[in-house]
Amino acid sequence: TYVVTDACIKCKYTDCVEVCPVDCFYEGENMLVINPSECIDCGVCEPECPAEAILPDTESGTEKWLELNAQYSAEWPNITEKKDPPADADEFKGKSGKFDAYFS
Ligand code: SF4
Ligand code: F3S
Repeated sequence: TYVVTDACIKCKYTDCVEVCPVDCFYEGENMLVINPSECIDCGVCEPECPAEAILPDTESGTEKWLELNAQYSAEWPNITEKKDPPADADEFKGKSGKFDAYFS
């Protein structure tokens, strides 16, 4: 599976949802997650994210994100259409510490 990481937080460009063939993205207030049991591992979303927030779970350090994606995709609503990112999205692109400050 692929997972969304904290780089998405406060960026939410949503280019990813447009390309996913199985519509397995779910939307929280400040980030999106992938439902790992629905993701078919096609990989097309990874290069689409301007924030480089999407990684395959074969990458080291993604365990925490896999758990978080699994948990929150069960709680948050499905998102299948691209929408405008937050007005200040570019200011948060590449910033560290976003998880502790803004996760939701
Ligand atoms: Fe969707 Fe493919 Fe990305 Fe999985 S890897 S979330 S199936 S676009
Ligand atoms: Fe987030 Fe990137 Fe999608 S910033 S909403 S994972 S395009």
